[in-house]
Amino acid sequence: MKRSDINAIIRDADAFIKARGFYLPPFAYWTPEEWCKKGEEAYEIVENHMGWEITDFGLGNYRKHGLFLFTVRNGNPANLITMRGKIYAEKLMIVDEHQITPMHFHWSKMEDIINRGGGDLVIQVHNATPEGQLATSNVTVSVDSVVQIVPAGTHIVLEPGQSLSVPVGLYHEFTAQGGRVLVGEVSMVNDDDTDNRFLDHAGRFPAIQEDEPPLYLLCTDYSKYYHPRS
Ligand SMILES: [Fe+2]
Repeated sequence: MKRSDINAIIRDADAFIKARGFYLPPFAYWTPEEWCKKGEEAYEIVENHMGWEITDFGLGNYRKHGLFLFTVRNGNPANLITMRGKIYAEKLMIVDEHQITPMHFHWSKMEDIINRGGGDLVIQVHNATPEGQLATSNVTVSVDSVVQIVPAGTHIVLEPGQSLSVPVGLYHEFTAQGGRVLVGEVSMVNDDDTDNRFLDHAGRFPAIQEDEPPLYLLCTDYSKYYHPRS
């Protein structure tokens, strides 16, 4: 993806988030120059991959297969071993109409996906076979803590305010209908390096063509700018 496209997506997303009455923490707006001056106090943000993220899932067409994310908080995967400290995460996402986040499940993260406003969020669900393919068995889902049993491949439609609990190993793919959706995610610690299992090959972090300076840093940019003195 081009950096100029990423900057444009961030500007547009920031305006949409504010228009929906949600506000991001100050570190969202630290400039690359400010990041260069940050010390150990900001380590958690970097270490736990918090902040801006834009992905085209390595498929090269963000409008078709893409997702905007901002990780507001996240613990460290190591905390899951000790079950101490921050073992939770919160993300904000924006899903456009007809924009797809491809079918995937998580090996260890359980997440609630929440429609925070806009159009409807449509989530297709499948159990996984032992071989990691789509199962044909009925799926037990919990929508706002109300349990339903639905056929494989059902599209769960979440209106603003509604949420779906996605347990470990449940395949899910989502898009928006009737307008762009601001999506919340409340989950266990998030580890995008190891925890995503896509049905078809998809990458998580796109290669970036640097055709202009970054407006704000993506979580994958920190290592280039953040060098705290030890
Ligand atoms: Fe997911």
